[in-house]
Amino acid sequence: MYRTHTCWQLNATHLNQTVTLAGWVNRIRNLWGLTFIDLRDRYGITQVTVNPENVQADSAQNSQDAKEQRLGKLNSIKPEYVLQITGTVIARPENMINSDMPTGEIEIQPTEINILSTCAELPFTIDNENPVGEDLRLEHRYLDLRRKTLKETILVRSKLYSETIKFFDKKEFVYVETPCFTKNTPEGSREFVVPARFDQGKFFVLPQSPQQYKQMLMVAGYDKYIQLPRCFRDEDPRGDRQPEFTQVDFEMSFAQQEDVLDIVQEYFLEMTKMFPTKQIKNLTFPRYTRKRCMDCYGSDKPELRTEEMKFTDLTERSKSVDFSLFQGIECLKCLVAPKAFSRSEIEKTLEPVIKENGGKWLLYLIFDANGEVKGPLTKYLTTENQNQLFDSIKIQPGQTAFFQFGTRENVVSLLGALRNKLIKELNLLADKQDLLDFAFVVDAPMFEVGSDGTLGSCHHPFTKPKDQYIPYLLELADKIRSGYTLTQEDIKKLTSMESDSYDIIADGYEIGGGSIRIHDQKLQHAIFTILGLSELEIEIRFGHILKCFTFGVPPHGGCAFGFDRIVMIYQNKENIREVIAFPKNQKYRDPMFGSPSEVDPEMLKELGLKIW
Ligand code: AMO
Repeated sequence: MYRTHTCWQLNATHLNQTVTLAGWVNRIRNLWGLTFIDLRDRYGITQVTVNPENVQADSAQNSQDAKEQRLGKLNSIKPEYVLQITGTVIARPENMINSDMPTGEIEIQPTEINILSTCAELPFTIDNENPVGEDLRLEHRYLDLRRKTLKETILVRSKLYSETIKFFDKKEFVYVETPCFTKNTPEGSREFVVPARFDQGKFFVLPQSPQQYKQMLMVAGYDKYIQLPRCFRDEDPRGDRQPEFTQVDFEMSFAQQEDVLDIVQEYFLEMTKMFPTKQIKNLTFPRYTRKRCMDCYGSDKPELRTEEMKFTDLTERSKSVDFSLFQGIECLKCLVAPKAFSRSEIEKTLEPVIKENGGKWLLYLIFDANGEVKGPLTKYLTTENQNQLFDSIKIQPGQTAFFQFGTRENVVSLLGALRNKLIKELNLLADKQDLLDFAFVVDAPMFEVGSDGTLGSCHHPFTKPKDQYIPYLLELADKIRSGYTLTQEDIKKLTSMESDSYDIIADGYEIGGGSIRIHDQKLQHAIFTILGLSELEIEIRFGHILKCFTFGVPPHGGCAFGFDRIVMIYQNKENIREVIAFPKNQKYRDPMFGSPSEVDPEMLKELGLKIW
């Protein structure tokens, strides 16, 4: 080894020992005729103090020239040079002791300094973490990874990874690696394809998740499976998404929803112990139905660290309010913010949120500190009507009531966006950064109509519908096979059916999702049929799993956490790129490797591909 100790290891118990350290120059300063080198490795920093008076000439060339050469070498050292330093551990002078560092009582008096590597001009400083553009950081990620903040996150991530494996290992889960070259799966995202050279015109697909493999492992009898797989999704970028990411993926046979949720809760209670400053809001994670989340917070992953600004439904109430805009509406909801905003504040900061999210207007009534009601709506609503509304929303002086009306879907999504903005604007999380509001969101719909107007699965098509819908679904699939086409009425019914599914949310993120699966081959086939797949398509895309499901399938269920998102919430990071060693940038490109990039035309030819 190039070293006898790391740079965070030596203390007063090592005094007078001869040691060798190796690392990077974090800082080098000349003070009082001395040269101080802070030598850094991934563990920490040790101070090396060079007194030029003590620099000896090299014994091989015992001359003044050799001594000067050595001093010259010392003067050539710059930040981020890699050095090997041999010397004696000595006590720091009393006034230089730094009790914040385990190495703060000692320093090294070197006898030999070896420059192992020099360092070119740095694009940004390592020691002083001044703000730097993200692409520059990503282009030199190996330097960025030397900086304290990112390094600490990567070390925490590594520890969380091993604690995760230990947790599941203790519970006798079997770690199985599943393939990355697979076939397309209907899990809702666009997929990355890999051309097969030996089968031109055919492609592998990178997995969105190992969903079907883990279900097959249940059929194979491995009743508890765990993996931390890489997953690949070609989705639009977002602050909590990467095209490749890591899951904590598990599946259990003979398990019911409660068994899976127990494991989920136990996992997060256990992992949180690693972070003593973090506090869990409810040790028994609360449960919300998806519908309640949407109705009350306008999101399926609401921020619950603050429970302020829960929506009040005024649809019924609106019927007795004499206001033309409220006549015949499907839904009217109100959100009360804990501040009497001024009109200009609303116009400048809040109305744009509504417009950006496709809304037209934001109705509001300001209830000022003296209890006086203000805002343009006052012109249209009689005092009696205002009182009727205020009575049901229990507004206090110093607050503002915001209203949205229209279809239920629009109302909740617009008020949901407004709630998120208000939480930031009013800094409602200022004293809650270390609070974790884990909660389960259960009973998502079985089906949903996508933006392209087609019927799709809300979770994925392997999710079990609630028992009461099964006879209807089997019957409907039979009808479709005999030529029946779904009506609007059927679609309405299908999208109102709930499934045995659950998400786990925290701090406004969906950190995991799962479900009890269909283990009956006929029902699985029926779901594919209802989703609009022909018999031939079902055979081509899902023949393998339907065949597997004829060979003795245990009832099973499972879940997958987004591992990167877990690191985000534990490390209070708002961007997923801050918790991944080598992430893609906001446009899903890698500025360091310059990928994606063109490939050699010969390679394309070999693959039988042509660029159009
Ligand atoms: P789902 O699609 O909900 O479920 O994914 C599980 C969790 O993975 C995380 N996640 C992501 N993290 C970073 N970047 C992304 N692009 C990304 N997409 C998803 C989220 C999410 O909750 N097979 C099912 C699980 C199951 O049913 O067992 C699945 O993958 O935190």
